[in-house]
Amino acid sequence: MKAIILSGGKGTRLRPLTYTGAKQLVPVANKPILWYGIEAIVATGITDIGIIISPETGEEVKAKTGDGDRFGARITYILQEQPAGLAHAVKIARPFLGDTPFVMYLGDNLIQNELGEFLNHFKEQQMDSLILLRPVANPSAFGVAQIDEQGRVVHLVEKPKVPPSNLALVGIYFFANTIHAAIDRIQPSARGELEITDAIQDLIDHKQHVEARQIEGWWLDTGKKDDLLEANQIILDTCLKSDLCGELDAQSQVFGRVQIGTGSKLINCSVRGPVTIGKDCHLENCFIGPYSSIADQVTLIDVDLEHSVILRGAKVIGIHQRIVDSVIGQRAHLKTAPQRPKALRFMIGDDCQIELA
Ligand code: DAU
Repeated sequence: MKAIILSGGKGTRLRPLTYTGAKQLVPVANKPILWYGIEAIVATGITDIGIIISPETGEEVKAKTGDGDRFGARITYILQEQPAGLAHAVKIARPFLGDTPFVMYLGDNLIQNELGEFLNHFKEQQMDSLILLRPVANPSAFGVAQIDEQGRVVHLVEKPKVPPSNLALVGIYFFANTIHAAIDRIQPSARGELEITDAIQDLIDHKQHVEARQIEGWWLDTGKKDDLLEANQIILDTCLKSDLCGELDAQSQVFGRVQIGTGSKLINCSVRGPVTIGKDCHLENCFIGPYSSIADQVTLIDVDLEHSVILRGAKVIGIHQRIVDSVIGQRAHLKTAPQRPKALRFMIGDDCQIELA
């Protein structure tokens, strides 16, 4: 068995963070989203992994993720010149995949369930495809499945205006080599993409063995800011272990599960976990509340923060109101005067959202 992870595409919904970087590298609890997918695949015993990359962000994905050694895997990078659809990505991965069955994992998805059980079921039943479904409140934003009383998939449709059910297709799929012929038979959709949803529908139309499993645990598609904050909260809640490597002065206090990386200094700070703070950060006179992830080389002075994600190299100084539900991009600077500011001065990038609540 092999696996492919899709890490191309445009990442428009996470702008402005994704103007300068790949959305799959945006960190959740200080680890790139993509790496969770790699680890989930390696945990099933699959170590031969192809990662689909785009010309815009591919080099960054490669540089950060490497050849797979750190995961105990062998990674092959596959360039997709245009984001022409999920099934198009499978098409260009064909030389890598050959005729082996494979797992396809969308690089911006995270699920709680382990994949091993699904993989065994797929193999034992010799299926053409196993798909995973989860009820959602907004099915129109996803591929949607209609299933009959026996739980068989009868119809799949991509982002329907009138959804036939509330069961969304999770971005993790299991395929036999029969998917390649199905992809050869389909046409681009109205949005101009070769849709994997249409290819699976084609398998169903050709009476091939397609099954669906509903997942019970959480599933996060980290496409937007609130999804990212939710993913951060869930991962900190479920996976974070205490590990204090940085330096705390006598006035600083830590409660609950907190991680502080090497080279970081906390002066007169109070940190209430779950919180992760990366390496080489400088925090002074701060309260850092639950569900915050602070990446490497961040400076926070006179800041009160919770339920937020601060990316690498950002500086936040003297903000006297509590910062909540916020995502602050790499190297962003945010500063106010010690007294109540008389004026606000901004240099805000395209597509940013500032709310003085
Ligand atoms: O997240 C689950 C949903 O993912 C499913 O319910 C939908 O059926 C499926 O089409 C997909 O929809 P999205 O609109 O969320 O897909 P998105 O364009 O965000 O792409 C998913 C991942 O695949 C993302 O990491 C980017 C990558 N990608 C995307 C395209 C279109 C590629 O690598 N190449 C591509 O051509």
